[in-house]
Amino acid sequence: MRSKCFIQFCFLFLFAIQSQFIIAQKKSFPQKVDSVLRLMTLEEKIGQLNQYNDDWTATGPVTVDNDKANQIRKGQVGSLLNCMGTDRTKSWQKIAMQSRLKIPLLFGQDVIHGYKTTFPIPLAEAASWDLEAIQSSARIAATEAAASGIHWTFAPMVDIARDPRWGRVMEGAGEDPYLGSLIAKARVKGFQGNKLGNVDAVMACAKHFAAYGAAIGGRDYNSVDMSDRLLWEVYLPPFKAALDAGAATFMNSFNDLNGIPATGNKYLQRDILKGKWNFEGFVVSDWGSIGEMINHGNVKNSYEAALSAITAGSDMDMESRCYKDNLAQLVKDKKVSIELIDDAVKRILQKKFELGLFDDPFKFCNAEREQKEINNPEHSKIAREVAAKSIVLLKNKNHLLPLSKNTKTIAFIGPLVKEEKQNLGFWSVELPEIDYSKLIVTQWQGVKNKINKNSTLLYAKGCDIDGNNKDGFAEAIETAKQADIVIISVGERRDMSGEAKSRSNIHLPGVQEELIKAIQATGKPVVVLINAGRPLIFNWTADNVPAILYTWWLGCEAGDAIADVLFGDYNPSAKLPITFPREEGQIPIYYSHFNTGRPARNDSDLNYVSAYTDLSNSPKFPFGYGLSYTNFQYSNLQLSKKKIKSNEKIEVTLNISNNGKVSGEEVVQIYLRDKVGSIVRPVKELKDFAKIKLNAGETKTIKFIIDKEKLSFYNQQLKWVVEPGDFDLMIGSSSEDIRLKDSFELIR
Ligand code: NOJ
Repeated sequence: MRSKCFIQFCFLFLFAIQSQFIIAQKKSFPQKVDSVLRLMTLEEKIGQLNQYNDDWTATGPVTVDNDKANQIRKGQVGSLLNCMGTDRTKSWQKIAMQSRLKIPLLFGQDVIHGYKTTFPIPLAEAASWDLEAIQSSARIAATEAAASGIHWTFAPMVDIARDPRWGRVMEGAGEDPYLGSLIAKARVKGFQGNKLGNVDAVMACAKHFAAYGAAIGGRDYNSVDMSDRLLWEVYLPPFKAALDAGAATFMNSFNDLNGIPATGNKYLQRDILKGKWNFEGFVVSDWGSIGEMINHGNVKNSYEAALSAITAGSDMDMESRCYKDNLAQLVKDKKVSIELIDDAVKRILQKKFELGLFDDPFKFCNAEREQKEINNPEHSKIAREVAAKSIVLLKNKNHLLPLSKNTKTIAFIGPLVKEEKQNLGFWSVELPEIDYSKLIVTQWQGVKNKINKNSTLLYAKGCDIDGNNKDGFAEAIETAKQADIVIISVGERRDMSGEAKSRSNIHLPGVQEELIKAIQATGKPVVVLINAGRPLIFNWTADNVPAILYTWWLGCEAGDAIADVLFGDYNPSAKLPITFPREEGQIPIYYSHFNTGRPARNDSDLNYVSAYTDLSNSPKFPFGYGLSYTNFQYSNLQLSKKKIKSNEKIEVTLNISNNGKVSGEEVVQIYLRDKVGSIVRPVKELKDFAKIKLNAGETKTIKFIIDKEKLSFYNQQLKWVVEPGDFDLMIGSSSEDIRLKDSFELIR
């Protein structure tokens, strides 16, 4: 017994010396990783691949000494999620420091659109087409989260989504791979800052790999069945962009892709991500998704699930416990090689080194910094700007907007007017110690803050967000009658879009559209605000109400940002990042569709063409659409060449003038059509855009470059090629509002 203790003592002594040695020496990260790996038992290695949820509701220091704490002490856990605040992360990390090898824990969290300061939901931010703004929102989220002990955000979600029934459209950047790729890049850069290891940077996680957004029928977690062409052309590009921007981690997804669950999909994770793309970070499973392969019917039990996932390239198991329970046996049974385990462990340790956690496991646990960052007033200022940039002006008949701050009486009606938390949207982080009633600027407060002291603001709720109750209509009508102008705020509850929030009916819920009709019948000028996490259907409102702002869910600063736009302190500049359908029957609907052999040229000649006999093919509002309080004129399109070889470029120039009376920003959109391809090409593809600011009366010349990259596509062999032929160039203010056109030829 005594000699056993002595041996253990010697071992630990040597280890202590060795770990000091590792830290002290100027070794590269992979060398450091190897020196730790050499000391690890199989159980400890498997521990690194195991991620647990913390207690959802608990904050502050860990007080219970439970099984989780014990496992951490034994080195059986590599990461925790849903663990916020320096007090809590510090105390978990202290427990990890009691483990034999003192390998620090990683703390992950869904920081999707802000941490303490809630920014607009990602789909809304995408509508800004303002990459700098999007990056700055992610930067602030990272700064606050990192100051609160978090090392890793499960964002950005870069899934392309063309089905607004899918609740998670709110979490992505919409339907387009080009826009989606640029936004993916901006978000990764924002989260990771200048360098991982800085105290204001968190690891990004590009998710959900892959094709999760194409769930059949828009039903969350459903199967995905798609061609390789579609996968490579539309669904993978934002992931590649995130990777190129340095995304430290990827998350796989719940869905199966062509019959193979993404979590156990070798083609996706080993062949594409870690093979062809040479991704050096690690892949985390989605919550329980390793175990869920049993439900998919792809594996028999958790033993097979673990085998399938580790073989396919899933490095960390989020909460399914399949790795913890089975990997050791799988190694013993020689089904999984130790090299495979080592590869996964190394990827995770590498990130722990990059974050600087081996040097100082408590690096992100500075309570003073936490207080400073989460109370930084600059953050709300930027949140307000980003929110204003995300609001889309859908309609503005007779220039009803902007409203005058001196309007004598304004009625503000609707179920969302005085709501606080609804403005945060789904996936907001809610810190238990924060009083959100003080933090959130309600829409009511925003308008009140803005209008002249002598103006009167009246309120009536009118109805609930859903349900059939019209008892509040009479009061709302009476209130409207007393006003010079009526603003109606309607939409979804924030738990109507998000994970597991798919809906078959995406019309404005409940009796809200009837409320709008009743108010409009008073003859008062009406402005409608629509708050939602997805494109909704509101045809009557769109056709009859003079002014509509799509306000999504805008975060803490919603009220002030909405008021900025309503009263003209910010001239709306957002453009839809996703097509708005007329009816659910049109879904999936997206602008970059194929022409088909029998294209419908208009809505009146529907004989044997690719169309519905009972509904137009056109969307209610197209991709790229959004109005401004001013007018932009496009002119003087010039191409430096009309024929190019594939190694040449075309310089495209055009003039944009602001012909209105106020300054504004325009998103100039460049679309191309490859007229003939060995693979059919879409009728239009966004290839570039510029968001430019012009003062009233100002004209600017803008320049775009068309090069080989913009003309290439995946051919039948999935090779990225250019093919000679004619191309149409379309430049416009939306995917349908094309103002300038030309064409050119690519020659051999
Ligand atoms: C499941 C979601 O699909 C994923 O996006 C999220 O990051 C995890 N849960 C963790 O909360």
